Parts: sequence; structure tokens; C-alpha cells
Amino acid sequence: MANHSVRISANTPRCAVQLQGQLQLMSGGSRYKYACFPPYATIEFIMTVQFVPKVKVQTDKAKFSESELVTNYVYKNAIVDKQADGSFAVKPFEEPYHFKVDLKVPKVGVMLVGLGGNNGTTFVASILANRNQLQFHTKEGLKTANYYGSVTQSSTIKLGIDSKGQDVYAPFNSLLPMVNPNDFVVGGWDINGDNLAVAMQKAQVLEYDLQEKLKEQMKEIVPLKSIYYPDFIAANQDERANNCFNRVNGEIHTTGKWSHVEQIRKDIRDFKAANKLDKVIVLWTANTERYADVVSGVNDTAENLLESIKKDHEEIAPSTVFAVASILEHVPYINGSPQNTFVPGVIELAENNCTYIGGDDFKSGQTKLKSVLAQFLVDAGIRPVSIASYNHLGNNDGYNLSSPRQFRSKEISKASVVDDVIASNEILYNDKLGRKIDHCIVIKYLNAVGDSKVAMDEYYSELMLGGHNRISIHNVCEDSLLATPLIIDLLVMTEFLSRVTYKKVSDNKYADMYSVLSFLSYWLKAPLTRPGYQAINGLNKQRQGLDNFLRILIGLEPLDELRFEERLV
Ligand SMILES: NC(=O)c1ccc[n+]([C@@H]2O[C@H](COP(=O)([O-])OP(=O)(O)OC[C@H]3O[C@@H](n4cnc5c(N)ncnc54)[C@H](O)[C@@H]3O)[C@@H](O)[C@H]2O)c1
Repeated sequence: MANHSVRISANTPRCAVQLQGQLQLMSGGSRYKYACFPPYATIEFIMTVQFVPKVKVQTDKAKFSESELVTNYVYKNAIVDKQADGSFAVKPFEEPYHFKVDLKVPKVGVMLVGLGGNNGTTFVASILANRNQLQFHTKEGLKTANYYGSVTQSSTIKLGIDSKGQDVYAPFNSLLPMVNPNDFVVGGWDINGDNLAVAMQKAQVLEYDLQEKLKEQMKEIVPLKSIYYPDFIAANQDERANNCFNRVNGEIHTTGKWSHVEQIRKDIRDFKAANKLDKVIVLWTANTERYADVVSGVNDTAENLLESIKKDHEEIAPSTVFAVASILEHVPYINGSPQNTFVPGVIELAENNCTYIGGDDFKSGQTKLKSVLAQFLVDAGIRPVSIASYNHLGNNDGYNLSSPRQFRSKEISKASVVDDVIASNEILYNDKLGRKIDHCIVIKYLNAVGDSKVAMDEYYSELMLGGHNRISIHNVCEDSLLATPLIIDLLVMTEFLSRVTYKKVSDNKYADMYSVLSFLSYWLKAPLTRPGYQAINGLNKQRQGLDNFLRILIGLEPLDELRFEERLV
């Protein structure tokens, strides 16, 4: 094992080190070091991880010890009964809770399904570039690697006001200890066997000079073999599928699905052991699959699902195999694509195994804007009557989506984004006026534009006294450069949330949160929720939930914008 060692303290700027392979993380108490595992050549890296709070709240509600933070918080809400005459009976209630945050940031391994895709390669490149503080030339001059577009790395949260009444903000990730994405150990699977230098070049996402600076490191990373069930992704992906462990003598076999679960479980265990990781998170950023039929007796309960995998039922998708394998390994599983991986049997399995899951479909460009704009219009009392969303893209995602069944998965996930907005306003949307917005979604594959997806949207709304308003938007969504920071945030927050436990004051023991991490909704188009609960799509509401959760954990109250200092005499 050849170690190419570089010792750097936590606060030393990370110098650009010529790496030859995948960075791997080894532990030693509160110190981490990168080491080398064949076939990868790597560097050693020492850093201290003791958490020193940068934001110190002077309150007796939150108590820090060396290892944990315990906070008291009284949750306040109201039960509302809508009466037959249209009035509302509102009964406020309170529930006191204790929250506990484990302050030790663990060594985190990330396994991507679809590692060799546009998102997969851009994710790995972004981590290597930031870890080494790479500088590269574009036609605009010299650029330094950054994490723009990531809420956890590049946004702030309001803490309060200064002595002059002006707002004061702190970095999102400074409130509580969160894993630094530079420290992720990354691995994963792909049905295509290209090394990541070749895959990065084919992806056509990154600036040429940056690719040149990364290619030596990227070429050492080769995805693990994956499973390919041709019925689930577009037929046009077939030529990519040269790295599949269910291909025997050139033939694809879709039987032996339970052995596929076991192989993936083994891959996860091997990755964790080889890198001495505390935690692994698996995230699907592979091709969009067709929807699986939800069939009673097949995938409707955890027990039926496991039985159906053992019987090689045809409605078991590769993504469901990955989800089941991860859950059985107690490894959180995040779905970044639109398909219904989380059939009821998977959700029940996650509940039974107390494992976190989150999905579906990254909310990166057009839909993110829609989840702001539709909410803004309806909250302003304007009545959108139609939204026409068109886009064209030329990457492999678009190629796969040019097939009708895979497009249908995307259409469903994109369409649901205005549902809760409509449901929030009975003045504008009711039985008499109609409870729907005409919502049309078109996706076209246009090879020439590559990863620079072009989204064009028209919002047509009714104004007062028969007037109309038309908003047209032309948005060039750099697909993978928008999606990669979301992947980082989903991983950072999943890891963070898995260190939070809670109890009601009357309970004896702390418990994990509910298995479906709906706090992740901010980053997802069709947020998975606890069965029986409606998804919240409005981006600002989602962000408010995140900010306030971090605030209450450090002993602050949820943020309001009452601004009495200014408004009251
Ligand atoms: N802005 C965005 O990029 C964005 C936004 C929302 C959702 N998504 C979704 O993210 C996914 C990935 O997007 P992308 O642009 O990276 O696509 P991509 O086609 O470039 O990459 C997908 C990768 O998955 C691999 N793959 C397919 N089936 C696999 C399997 N069973 N196991 C392992 N690997 C498999 C492919 O070989 C490919 O390398 C797509 O489903 C896309 O719809 C992307």
C-alpha cells in the first residue's frame, strides 16, 4: 500500500496536491487521514474535527456538552375545524420536546448509483476540485473551485439583528456541525464501465482546463458493476450497458434478483470496511426508470416486496433493488430521479428497519422556479389558469427521456409541483371555478445543446375584472452544475439529520425522526412524504422549515419577520 502523504491541519488552506486516484478516508479518533487502497493511489490528510460552536446562543434552552447538544423546544401549532358556514374553529396547542444533536461529525462514504453519468462525474469533479482548491482558466479568466448553488455550503441563515436593528446572517453550515463535502469518500456503481475521466469528457459539463486538471485523478476511478433490467430504462441506453454483473456470456439475465440485492449489500459493506467509514449514504442519480406498477400482493407491503424479489417479479425495478439493499444495510437511500422507487413496500421496509429514505427527483432548474413563482402568484391572490412548461436538452438524461415511458415518470414528478399551492387557496380554486391549473409539460431531446438545458415557461393568469397576465420565462439550466450542489446538500443534510434524535418531555427515551426525511423536500421535485400527508412544494415554505429547525436546535425561536424594532413606536 503506497501512501503519498501530505499532512495538513484543519485550518491550513488545502493545497493543490497532485492526486492519482480516489480519495479514501481512514479514521483515528477525532483525526481523519486519507490513505491508499489498491487499486487507488491517494494522499494522507489529517484534520481535527472537534466541534467549536461559532454561533453561541446565550440561553438555558440549549446545553452543549463535549459530545452532544440538548435543546428544549415548545412546538406550537393549531387544530383547525372548518365549519359548515365557512367559518373556522381554531384551537392552538403546544407540545414540549427535547432534541439531541450528536456533535461528532462521522466519516461519511457516498455511493452513487449512476456514478459515470453527467451528475455523477460532475459531483466527483466538484469534490476533488474544491478539496484541492483548484484554479482553472475559462474565457473569463482564472476561476477557483467553489460550491455555488449549494444551500449548505454557500447560503446563510438570519440569526437576529445587531445593535442598530440591522439583520445579521451566519453561514448555513456554521450553526451546527455538518460534514464538509470535501471529506466525502466517494464510490458507486454504473452500468457503463468508462473510467471517470472518459465519462467526464463525454458529459461535456466542465470547462476544458478544469477537465485537464482533474483527469489524472478521475481516470483512476472506475464504477462498480451494476444491474441492468432493460425493461426499466429506454432501449437507447442498451449500448451503455457494458458493466453489469447480471450480464453472463454477453446475455443480460433479469432473474436472480435476490442475489442482486445481496451483491449490492456486499458492495456497501466492502466499501464501508475498506475505507473504515462510520456511515454510508446511497444516492440514485442513474437514468430515469419507467414507473413500476404498484400491485397488491407484490410490492404493497415490505413482506410481499421481499418475497416478490425472491420470485423475480417483473415489476421490481433496479432502483428498488438498490433501495432494498441499502435499507437492509441500514444505509440511508436518496432517490434523485422521478420513478416510484419508493413503492409502499419500500416505505414500510424503511420504517421497519428505522432507516432514512428521501426522494424523489432533484429540483434543480425549471421546477425550482415554478415552486417559487406559482406560490408567489397564488399568495398574491392572482389566479394562474395555465402553465406551459417546455424544455429541450441534449445530454444522456434527455436521450433516455425521449422514450415515452421514462418521459411519463418525469411528467408525473413535474406535474405535482403546484398541487399544494392550488389546495392552499379556496378563493381562487374551488368547485365552482375549478380546482386545477392547465399544466402542460414537454421535453424534447436536442443533441446539440448538450447539458445546457433550455426551459421555456409561460404562466397565464387571471387578474381582477377579467384581465390577464402572461409571464414568459427563458431559462438556460446548466443541468449538472445545478444538480450537483443539490446532491451535496441532500447528502450533507441526510447525514446531519441522522444525528438528531428527539423525545417528548414525558417520554423516557430519545427516538430517531420518521424514516421519510421530508426536510429534504427543498431539493426534490416530488417530495416523498409520510403516507397520509400532503407534499409541500413551495420552495420558500420548504426553506423556512429547514432554517427554523436549525434555529430551534441551537436554542433560538423560529424566524418571524415581525421587525417590531422598526415598526412599533
Ligand atoms: N438537473 C439535472 O441534472 C437533474 C434534475 C432532476 C433529476 N435528474 C435526474 O438525475 C438522473 C441522472 O441525470 P444525469 O444527467 O446524470 O444522467 P446521465 O444519463 O448522464 O447519467 C445516468 C447514469 O446512470 C447510469 N445507469 C443507468 N442505469 C443504471 C443502473 N441500473 N445502475 C447503475 N447505473 C445506471 C448510466 O449509465 C449513466 O451513466 C436522471 O434520472 C435525471 O432525470 C437530473
